Amino acid sequence: MNYDFDLILPRRGTDSVKWNRHEADVLPLWVADLDFASPQPVIEALARRVEHGVFGYGIEPPLLREVVRELLRQRYDWQVANEDLVLLPGVVPGLNLVALACSEPGDGLLVQPPIYPPFLAVEKNIGRTVETAPLVLRSGRYEVDPNELERALTARTRVFLLCNPHNPSGRVFTRAELEQVAEVCLRHNLVLCSDEIHQDFIYEGHTHIPIASLAPEIAARTVTLLSPSKTYNIAGFHLAVAVVNNPELRAKLNAASAGILPRKPGVLDIVAALAAYQHGGEWLGQLLAYLKANRDLLVGYVGEDRLPGVTMGRPEGTYLGWLDCRAAGIQGSAMEFFLREARVALGEGADFGAAGEGFVRLNFGCPRSALLDALERMRQALERNARLG
Ligand SMILES: Cc1ncc(COP(=O)(O)O)c(C=O)c1O
Repeated sequence: MNYDFDLILPRRGTDSVKWNRHEADVLPLWVADLDFASPQPVIEALARRVEHGVFGYGIEPPLLREVVRELLRQRYDWQVANEDLVLLPGVVPGLNLVALACSEPGDGLLVQPPIYPPFLAVEKNIGRTVETAPLVLRSGRYEVDPNELERALTARTRVFLLCNPHNPSGRVFTRAELEQVAEVCLRHNLVLCSDEIHQDFIYEGHTHIPIASLAPEIAARTVTLLSPSKTYNIAGFHLAVAVVNNPELRAKLNAASAGILPRKPGVLDIVAALAAYQHGGEWLGQLLAYLKANRDLLVGYVGEDRLPGVTMGRPEGTYLGWLDCRAAGIQGSAMEFFLREARVALGEGADFGAAGEGFVRLNFGCPRSALLDALERMRQALERNARLG
């Protein structure tokens, strides 16, 4: 089947956080969900299940693990066992859970800003200390820097919270970069929690490597967090998967979450996840081609200096653009400027840590006409701003 990603699907009035936060004339390109319908097999499977009409407690079907394992084997040549998989209600709960289970109050959690804000929020949520080893910006590309890692580490560091592919930079870390991270975790005896939720959004010339697949000794200290939610645009459902190869680590996570996280997945969560994993491939292939064209349009638009003073790196993965607005002549927050003057809602760079000040994050997972509309509004706002002074 051919999917039409150009189609505008009105989302106001659908309890969408993305579309309900701002006034009606604002074009929202902030939170990371897609303005596209999910794969048709997902919609049909859900409709069949809804038609049944009884929505009692769910139980995980054994098929789910088989399907996830097969996908990991096919896509990444990564072999995991059934018992390695732990179901969770989301990736962010997974991040907090790993930090909670594998550290004590006051211990350190290593993160690489600019970073998806929930990584920074773990500190406050559970009473730990976030230690920052910023990615280093070289010619518009953020890179892992071993010196920054060494500088940030303390005697209290216990957990490395990795995000790969990286939100917001769009980096897909190379094998060499992942080996640097892995080496630090081994040498300092850290638990490595790797959020790989964006692993299916990878553009040509780049390869996603699950860090746990580097070597058995890395797998033994890693919790990898995955989810069909981002890939198939089913973030409104709550089913994520942690891959935990080490039984002791698994036991720690289970103990820390007992009675707190749901053990019974929702029946609709299961149906959506299974249909997506099993039958979402055709949709995903077409989606990636569409997103790549949107990425090229965005990078081209910025590259041609049509948003004067704004620069960006070329996203290697994800559907997120990270726009450096520091030289655009904007007073105060660029996010607030574009919201006020262009009626475009973007992600506030400062929420991604101090390294994000002066940046905005733009979600290009939308129909191309909406992306063009947003860029044009932003261009005109900058033009007016320059004229005023
Ligand atoms: C890197 C990253 N991790 C996690 C999430 C959210 O995961 P969940 O909704 O499963 O908690 C997002 C959503 O934008 C994300 O970008």
